[in-house]
Amino acid sequence: MRKKLLRNDHLVKLKEMSDEEYKDKSYRIRKRFFDTAEFKEAETIAITVSRSTEVDTRTIIEACWEAGKNVVVPKCNTKDKTMIFRSIDSFEQLETVYLDLQEPNPLTTECVRKKDIDLVIVPGVVFTLDGYRIGYGGGYYDRYLDTFSGSTLSLAFELQLAEEIPIEEHDLPVGKIITEEREFQCSNQV
Ligand SMILES: Nc1ncnc2c1ncn2[C@@H]1O[C@H](COP(=O)(O)OP(=O)(O)O)[C@@H](O)[C@H]1O
Ligand SMILES: [Mg+2]
Repeated sequence: MRKKLLRNDHLVKLKEMSDEEYKDKSYRIRKRFFDTAEFKEAETIAITVSRSTEVDTRTIIEACWEAGKNVVVPKCNTKDKTMIFRSIDSFEQLETVYLDLQEPNPLTTECVRKKDIDLVIVPGVVFTLDGYRIGYGGGYYDRYLDTFSGSTLSLAFELQLAEEIPIEEHDLPVGKIITEEREFQCSNQV
């Protein structure tokens, strides 16, 4: 399957990034993100806690707290491949579920409804300029965003961009993509 090959190819490239490059590019992406109307206007922001090959979101989460935003992070249900978001105001409310994946502890966090989320930062491995993405293969975000009406935006390194990717019926484009070099308003969303 081409989707799988593209995903693996880009994951390899991401792993090859030096520490310095990773930090510098994450910093530039973060700076751009804070300048967006999406960030400024959102009260509640859904975001994942980044793993090693993803744009660093820990510093973004901290800045969101400082800016008075409500930060919500996903808790996945692996049985039916759905997720819900829970509000965190400290990294201590996270627990490691498997490998390096961190999720909110249900005992110390409250669930936040989809209609109360203003902006979803959508993770992914490969992106096209028109906002389509290859995720990690679970389809969690496609499923969640199917009935979401707020803003969506992805943070990605330039090396995660591809000219063209296979798109399936359930795949949904994000509204905006921010890289260390540029920002794209993706055509499919107002
Ligand atoms: N809205 C949806 N409803 C039902 N199944 C979905 C939905 N979105 C995705 N899926 C299923 O989830 C699986 C993974 O989706 P895919 O787009 O390949 O993953 P990812 O977006 O994580 O790269 C696919 O088998 C797909 O059929
Ligand atoms: Mg998908």
